[in-house]
Amino acid sequence: MSNPPTAAPFGPLQHGDALENLSYEDSKFAPSAEFARNAVVGAEVYAEADADRPAFWARQARELLTWSRDFTQTLDWSDPPFAKWFVGGEINAAYNALDRHVENGLGDRTAIFFEGEPGDTRTYTYAQLTEEVKKAANAFESLGLAKGDRVAVYLPMIPEAVITLLACARIGAVHSVVFGGFSADALRSRIEDAEARLVVTADGTWRRGKPSALKPAVDEALSGGGHTVENVVVVRRNGQEVDWHQGRDHWWADTVGAASNQHTAVGHDAEHPLFILYTSGTTGRPKGILHTTGGYLTQTAFTHQAVFDLHPDTDVYWCTADIGWVTGHSYVAYAPLINAATQVMYEGTPDSPHQGRWWEIIEKYKVSIFYTAPTAIRTFMKWGRDIPDRYDLSSLRVLGSVGESINPEAWMWYRDVIGDNVGKNGEKKDNPAPIVDTWWQTETGAQMIAPLPGVTATKPGSAQVPLPGIAVDVVDEAGESVPDGHGGFLVIREPWPAMLRGIWGDPERFKDTYWSRFQTMYFAGDGAKKDEDGDIWLLGRVDDVMNISGHRLSTTEIESALVSHPAVAEAAVVGAADETTGQAVVAFVILRCDATDTGDAIVQELRTHVGKEIGPIAKPKTILVVPELPKTRSGKIMRRLLKDVAEGREAGDATTLADNTIMQTITDSLKIRK
Ligand code: PRX
Repeated sequence: MSNPPTAAPFGPLQHGDALENLSYEDSKFAPSAEFARNAVVGAEVYAEADADRPAFWARQARELLTWSRDFTQTLDWSDPPFAKWFVGGEINAAYNALDRHVENGLGDRTAIFFEGEPGDTRTYTYAQLTEEVKKAANAFESLGLAKGDRVAVYLPMIPEAVITLLACARIGAVHSVVFGGFSADALRSRIEDAEARLVVTADGTWRRGKPSALKPAVDEALSGGGHTVENVVVVRRNGQEVDWHQGRDHWWADTVGAASNQHTAVGHDAEHPLFILYTSGTTGRPKGILHTTGGYLTQTAFTHQAVFDLHPDTDVYWCTADIGWVTGHSYVAYAPLINAATQVMYEGTPDSPHQGRWWEIIEKYKVSIFYTAPTAIRTFMKWGRDIPDRYDLSSLRVLGSVGESINPEAWMWYRDVIGDNVGKNGEKKDNPAPIVDTWWQTETGAQMIAPLPGVTATKPGSAQVPLPGIAVDVVDEAGESVPDGHGGFLVIREPWPAMLRGIWGDPERFKDTYWSRFQTMYFAGDGAKKDEDGDIWLLGRVDDVMNISGHRLSTTEIESALVSHPAVAEAAVVGAADETTGQAVVAFVILRCDATDTGDAIVQELRTHVGKEIGPIAKPKTILVVPELPKTRSGKIMRRLLKDVAEGREAGDATTLADNTIMQTITDSLKIRK
């Protein structure tokens, strides 16, 4: 981009032929009779929710949660799109995740089995975790933090991350987690937008056997002033030297460690803000997605129980998501603890110190419910089945997928190699573990489309059915529901409990982004198709959002980063299909006339520059230096054509280009470079 984007946020569907390519199209896997018999949730929930959606959610809210004051109205939708759920109710998220389980005699149950990358381990029972959260709540309050204040969290996957989130929730402070892989610049803009008063971080973490620093990014983010941060609490994790700002910085061990373990949780309004989580949209500026308390807890708890068939007294659950993403919020920090589950938390990468690390963890802790992303599954496929075959995976009984569509080949591999594998002696199970492909978003807060493992006959590659109480549809350009066998845009017709309540500080942007395309319906930004049975297949984003390894990145955000480099005149970024990561970032750049270096060195420098501006995950896989970019007469870059080039196809229809020789110029220039 050269100017602020003028592009309309949605384009035509580009993945319309996905269904035709399936080789497992007719496969269906019904739950075994035994699984169905023992399932926590049966088919009757659909009918119940259809009959009276708010009443269904009210029942879940009252059964799954303990309210300090009951609500008087389930849903107030009098001022759409601003919903209020469980009006008049008061609830404390941390009390629900912790104290009440201890009061109910579950204090000795393991809440978290933590496995550090170097192999260190820690176990927290519910009683111990409750105590830690109370201490953290006291420590944060002693630093002057009060209800409604914002806390930026920049932590690795260590128990202190969960403790911090719950301590914030306990005192009504609003956490804003920034993924540890984001740069100091990205951290700064999020701290400033949320006006955080406290930052919680660590000296660093471990990555592939080496210490990796976090604190320097915080120091850099806070270096220029212009922010409202008063205190920084630092967890000692990898023992690296850190710069210390006297008066501002406090070691976790000194503040939290010394705090009292007595703390009484009070109820907060059901609509009290619980957290802000920044996510990429169609413009360069990330959006602070706002979630509130009662509805979010209700839907995360219900879906976690129903979709994973959670039996909290016997299951061991492991979600591999980082706390920096919404999955790590809803399905690591909140729902498993609300549901009194035992969960595994792992700090590191799947290949450290060897490629069987995850399977080793599953064997060690006898994980029964496993939730991960298609990009990980495809990586394991590449590494080969002989690696998981070395481990005992017989404990697995439900497998989840999230973040992007899981291609049918990966789905079948997941089922055969992970879900149907007793391991070691090559035996098959009597009944392979069902796979639940879960579609949802940062904005939806909780799972929205997914099979129920004891009810649904699953299909490889499809998320299939809206969950009970969720009104999802696929509509055409005019907002009309498409018939079975047709594709269109994914929308949500009715408000749902865990829905975002807005974009932090920007109600207009909330309306424009999600509620202007189809007025009364929420527009998710995804293309989808209903098959002949009415099951839903997700077909990818229809806007300028990319999905790289299940992480959401905006084309415009990376373009902004590129043009902020002095050598770049213009940039256009596309997500090109990639076998492992789903999509990969491919950037087309026009260099300034005075740029002296036009070869490999500038390409390397630009990749580093994007890493610094946004974070390593945003670094383009490929940067192509081109003489021109294809634009319409109104100046909009036609990314569709660039995507064709990036994916090695003949460029498609270029008739709306201002100059239709440009695609030829671009392809010629790339040929010359090769
Ligand atoms: O395009 C969809 C894709 O991820 C987007 C949401 O990204 P994010 O807010 O980062 O949340 C990811 C984790 C919930 C969606 O708009 N997506 C997520 N899950 C699936 C999916 N696409 C297809 N199938 C899924 N199961």
